[in-house]
Amino acid sequence: MKVISILNQKGGCGKTTTAVNLAYALNKQGYKTLLIDLDPQAHTTFSLGIAHVLGIPDLLENYLDSHCTGLDQFLTQRDQNLFVITSSIGLSALEHKFSLREDKLFVLYKLLNRYASEYEYCIVDCPPNLGVLTLNAYFASNYVVVPLTNCDFSLKGMETLNQIIDMTQDLSPTAPAIYYLFTQYDKRFRYSVNFLDKIKILLGENLLKTIIRTNISMREAAANGQTIFEYKPYARGAQDYMLLAGEIAEITKDQKWARFVLKGKNYKKVYVVGDFNQWQKSETFKLKKLDSDTWCINLPLRKGKYSYKFCADETWCTDPFNTFEEDDSFGGKNSILHIE
Ligand SMILES: Nc1ncnc2c1ncn2[C@@H]1O[C@H](COP(=O)(O)OP(=O)(O)OP(=O)(O)O)[C@@H](O)[C@H]1O
Ligand SMILES: [Mg+2]
Repeated sequence: MKVISILNQKGGCGKTTTAVNLAYALNKQGYKTLLIDLDPQAHTTFSLGIAHVLGIPDLLENYLDSHCTGLDQFLTQRDQNLFVITSSIGLSALEHKFSLREDKLFVLYKLLNRYASEYEYCIVDCPPNLGVLTLNAYFASNYVVVPLTNCDFSLKGMETLNQIIDMTQDLSPTAPAIYYLFTQYDKRFRYSVNFLDKIKILLGENLLKTIIRTNISMREAAANGQTIFEYKPYARGAQDYMLLAGEIAEITKDQKWARFVLKGKNYKKVYVVGDFNQWQKSETFKLKKLDSDTWCINLPLRKGKYSYKFCADETWCTDPFNTFEEDDSFGGKNSILHIE
């Protein structure tokens, strides 16, 4: 099961709309999909017109109280391949219970592991904050999709992720792959076109190729308790979210995980840099210290050939565990990785 969280601490940037319509489109494309409403505001639940009876608050409560239960009683089947776990305001009361546990950030990860073989995709709609629920979604995810709207505030979502990575850098050596999705694009407005140009440069490969255009029918659909595919199947929004599901299926099909390890006792900070991150040091590519002398990170990379190096404090070196090297253009060497 590929777990994809829709995450941005900014409110109203299209998380719920994306979660609901992406999940429905994946279901339409034949993928068995689980959609989890992890927001106590329960917007996913409302915008699908589902009456909450038993859902994520009950499932998590059961799990936290160590009751072993199946998933069925917490599911609502919404379409042939789409199963929803609803939410309610009661979810916010659980945050306190989470915080008492040592594994408070990994509860959802452990829970979802139990059902990993039953679904092809799991889409998680996150609340607009950086609380314990969002962090649980982050650590349970293989992929994070950050919706961005036409304003610089939504770029704060990028800071969100860096903050998360900063706050939690010693907890897990696995980072989900992060993609950005431009939503509510309107080519009639110069600010929208300019914003797209700006984020294309800023985000490069991490900006999804699919762009979600503004479409008033999306609002009407949600208000009606329907996805855009049910409300107006030929609307622009339906076309865009169907394309998005295709792109996500393509990306997740090709994605592999590469493990980078460096040994060294006295380092303070170790980064891996390469053509997969434009040779830029950033928090996303900072190795975690696993024990007194082992630094490690697992990175999601697509099929292909990659050149890279480590930067340990201010020293650059090739990968001592990888014998494949090529000359770089500065008279030194790069390590070479082939992902099949
Ligand atoms: N492509 C679109 N075209 C027109 N309206 C849209 C589009 N995408 C989202 N909206 C509308 O924008 C509003 C905010 O969207 P949404 O609820 O998905 O954001 P959110 O990030 O989940 O918000 P919150 O942070 O409060 O959970 C909603 O009224 C939604 O219907
Ligand atoms: Mg929402």
